[in-house]
Amino acid sequence: MAKRIGSLKILENKRLNKEYFTLELSGSQRIPEMKPGQFAQVKVEGSPETFLRRPISIHFINPERNSIKFLIQIAGKGTETLSKLKKDDYIDIIYPLGNSFSLPSKGQRPLLAGGGCGIAPLLFMAGYLKNNGFKPDILLGFRNKERVIEYDEYIKFGNVFLTTEDGSMGEKGFLTDHSVLKSANYDIVYCCGPDPMMKAVASLCRARDINCEVSLENLMGCGIGACLCCVVDTARGNLCTCTDGPVFNIKELKW
Ligand SMILES: Cc1cc2nc3c(=O)[nH]c(=O)nc-3n(C[C@H](O)[C@H](O)[C@H](O)COP(=O)(O)OP(=O)(O)OC[C@H]3O[C@@H](n4cnc5c(N)ncnc54)[C@H](O)[C@@H]3O)c2cc1C
Ligand code: FES
Repeated sequence: MAKRIGSLKILENKRLNKEYFTLELSGSQRIPEMKPGQFAQVKVEGSPETFLRRPISIHFINPERNSIKFLIQIAGKGTETLSKLKKDDYIDIIYPLGNSFSLPSKGQRPLLAGGGCGIAPLLFMAGYLKNNGFKPDILLGFRNKERVIEYDEYIKFGNVFLTTEDGSMGEKGFLTDHSVLKSANYDIVYCCGPDPMMKAVASLCRARDINCEVSLENLMGCGIGACLCCVVDTARGNLCTCTDGPVFNIKELKW
């Protein structure tokens, strides 16, 4: 898949709550083909402290609008600067980077499981599954009701199940406590979120012999395989999260 570097125009910067916002971008050229799980390296302009690009997953592609969407959590200076961009501003990105989630085999039952900004690549994946004839279950974990975002987007592509840590919406507890994980028989789980959550999902899948792919959010420098700061120890040796991942089958990871 050819990579592009260039400026895209912001069609919309939508604030979802105190922490999260979405950026929808488009350009004069046709947006290239991308797969769910891939990401972009986003340049943060006018901020000397953040000269390294920030890796952000492709959240959604809208072919009719020729647009790419990012879902971003304000984590520090870089993402905060991005949150202040306005409609018609330009943003410089390198994309699409990394590998992608695989498709299930015909007739298999997929579950998407995500928490925090890890829910970002799962909307694209949910749409991709639907376009390929699957109706996934989608399990999303949040801290509380006020932090639940984009429910109306995910529900377009599958059955959505929620957990909140305080029980203010959906089932109470962590994502891995949800009854759907215990009762339903899935063939494959696609997971993205904080490391402890992904490790817990991976151990549950291992115990029940369920295939599982996780998208790692390791710290990155270059995003293109040059600096080796994103290396992960796997059954195939040291691999770069940015070029060999970010998606890994749990069979490959030494978790
Ligand atoms: C492949 C990949 C895809 C990602 N997709 C998304 C996405 O779709 N939406 C989103 O909001 N975030 C995503 N992230 C995380 C995002 O890149 C970081 O939150 C961002 O780089 C932080 O930049 P900052 O300048 O705002 O914060 P910094 O000041 O650089 O850091 C603030 C805090 O965030 C932590 N942090 C920095 N980089 C990362 C990282 N890569 N992963 C986790 N924590 C980090 C730092 O340790 C620090 O505690 C992704 C990361 C990777 C590797
Ligand atoms: S981020 Fe530089 S090699 Fe992966």
